[in-house]
Amino acid sequence: IGREIVHFLSIGSTNDKAKELANNGCREGLIVVAEEQTGGRGRLGRQWVSPQYRGIWMSVVLRPDIQPMEAQKLTLLSALAVSNAIEECTGLKVDIKWPNDLVVSGKKICGILTEMSAEVDKVNHVVIGIGINANMSAEDIPDELKDKATSLAIELGYNVDRKNLFRYISRNIDELYTCFINANQWHDLMVEYREKCINVGRRAVISKGDVSWEGMVTDIDDDGALIVLDGHGEKKRIISGDVSIRGV
Ligand code: BTN
Repeated sequence: IGREIVHFLSIGSTNDKAKELANNGCREGLIVVAEEQTGGRGRLGRQWVSPQYRGIWMSVVLRPDIQPMEAQKLTLLSALAVSNAIEECTGLKVDIKWPNDLVVSGKKICGILTEMSAEVDKVNHVVIGIGINANMSAEDIPDELKDKATSLAIELGYNVDRKNLFRYISRNIDELYTCFINANQWHDLMVEYREKCINVGRRAVISKGDVSWEGMVTDIDDDGALIVLDGHGEKKRIISGDVSIRGV
């Protein structure tokens, strides 16, 4: 991963570019990275603020030989790899908010957007889009997000070396992806994921469209689904898709 890197000063969205290159047959492991995104996209159709030189806005093309159902595992794997990379690089403690938000001191510093192209029983490609608020200052963060989002620079008090962080991220994704695909070590990765995930053992509000309900998160199963006890003591299995959750 990262043997081939396509770099842009400014682009709409690195995920869109990566999907285009993937559809044109690019090799697995290609990374698209940009200094700025003018149309950065988040989950659930949200916008992703991506100012120039302030973050790491990147997308990785993968071509795993897995069933489409399993693709969600790549999201969890990426969250784990990126959180480890940031910890190794900065010394900050990085938690995971299921499925794929990275959080420092309770505020979001990184989001991951996984997009897949697949046939019924075969994945063509998966694009993993990673957005890290690296050197954003408080003014770069929109007012409505100020109590929910932060950056590495705000938390550390100094700017990080983005190139170095980028290298750590590529290396960590490569390592965990190899464990998953070649060595079948998914179970071990999930053990590590659960340890870093802040939701387990806490109450959460689960929302899908206009419907919200509250429950107790008891576990994450080996498929990466959240196990939640609802108000009636019934166990519900939540797969990420279009669900959003927040702690209470
Ligand atoms: C989220 O938390 O909602 C996911 C945010 C993902 C943002 C990254 S930045 C690089 C890549 N290109 C995009 O347009 N989005 C992802």
